[in-house]
Amino acid sequence: MSRTTIGIVLNGVTGRMGLRQHLIRSVLAIRETGGLPLADGSTLWPEPVLVGRSEAKLRAIADQHGLTDWTTDLPAALARSDVQIYFDAQVTSARDKALRMAIDAGKHVYTEKPVAETLENAVELARLADAAGIKHGVVQDKLYLPGLRKLARLVRGGFFGRVLSVRGEFGYWVFEGDWQSAQRPSWNYRTADGGGITLDMFPHWHYVLEQIFGPVRAVTALSTTHIDRRWDEDGQPYDATADDAAYGLFELDGGVVAQINSSWAVRVNRDELVEFQVDGTLGSAVAGLHHCRVQPRAATPKPVWNPDEPTTQRFRGQWQEVPDNEVFINGFRAQWEQFLRYVAEDGPYTGDLWAGARGVQVAELGLRSSREGRRLEIPELLR
Ligand SMILES: NC(=O)c1ccc[n+]([C@@H]2O[C@H](COP(=O)([O-])OP(=O)(O)OC[C@H]3O[C@@H](n4cnc5c(N)ncnc54)[C@H](O)[C@@H]3O)[C@@H](O)[C@H]2O)c1
Repeated sequence: MSRTTIGIVLNGVTGRMGLRQHLIRSVLAIRETGGLPLADGSTLWPEPVLVGRSEAKLRAIADQHGLTDWTTDLPAALARSDVQIYFDAQVTSARDKALRMAIDAGKHVYTEKPVAETLENAVELARLADAAGIKHGVVQDKLYLPGLRKLARLVRGGFFGRVLSVRGEFGYWVFEGDWQSAQRPSWNYRTADGGGITLDMFPHWHYVLEQIFGPVRAVTALSTTHIDRRWDEDGQPYDATADDAAYGLFELDGGVVAQINSSWAVRVNRDELVEFQVDGTLGSAVAGLHHCRVQPRAATPKPVWNPDEPTTQRFRGQWQEVPDNEVFINGFRAQWEQFLRYVAEDGPYTGDLWAGARGVQVAELGLRSSREGRRLEIPELLR
């Protein structure tokens, strides 16, 4: 059967996400299994062009993975006629300029979130992309986590009856960097460099809520900086100016209330690094990265409040595991495959730059809600 090659500029490939999730676990993983099978029986073969700022790092990555096509010259890469897609996993603050260049060059664009640091820029990018007639997409990896896939399946199957509320806990302790090195890049903790947990995580929570439960209509948030001094990659102390915890309340269509805590200053006492509890009239579920457990109405115990006696009920044991019933591939790869099919054969796709802009909108309004100490409604974006 025939094979079509599709050239993809991968920018930011020396970073955590760009290298591990996008190059290795997605693009190279697709090549390792012979390319992407298309509906007409042909195969799509992704050909990466690695782009970054450091020749030495790019060469090392290329050598390690048997690749030869890399450059530090983004405009030159975008001028190539054998490149159809631009992908961006750079630091957030560098993204806007690069996406504009790619759209100008007529390339389809796929990008990490948040698409921009401000709503104004995010909307402008979406408009430019529409006007250029290119296809565009933004990473929505959390939707592809096995735990959340099973949760979405429960919603689709009507398990919950009427959904009442969603409670999310996300986070873990990110070391300050003095006596143990930090496990996340330091730019995340500086506002001037595009950092902050609200801008980082609210776009994720937005697409999770919107796509699994329904449109988000209002936000109330408290974003704060619990740890204000950290040590960077070179062991130098710096002022952590960005928020490292965000306590958010999201109001959805149908009266669903979602409350999600995000923090890099919390120690984990959960089964997974993110967990969502969903309560509905007919049943409840707790979903994490991999697992999803349920408690239907008919199996709901009847606890009675009695502070005088230690409880004898083992509440966690009263939930039942939802089986996988399918094979879940890496979420980033699953989304790459969907975007490639969208480009190559006009397959279905929902997470475009407008969806990305709505994520930035909820982050921006969340930060404003926190600053002003009030609840904010979320207006529809004008196209
Ligand atoms: N989808 C997710 O779950 C997820 C998780 C983490 C991060 N992200 C997003 O991915 C992007 C990259 O995050 P990361 O954690 O991989 O960051 P990182 O610091 O590990 O990588 C950043 C990349 O950007 C490049 N870069 C370009 N201009 C730069 C500049 N001026 N200063 C510093 N680096 C510059 C670096 O060389 C590097 O390749 C961010 O936008 C972040 O919001 C997404």
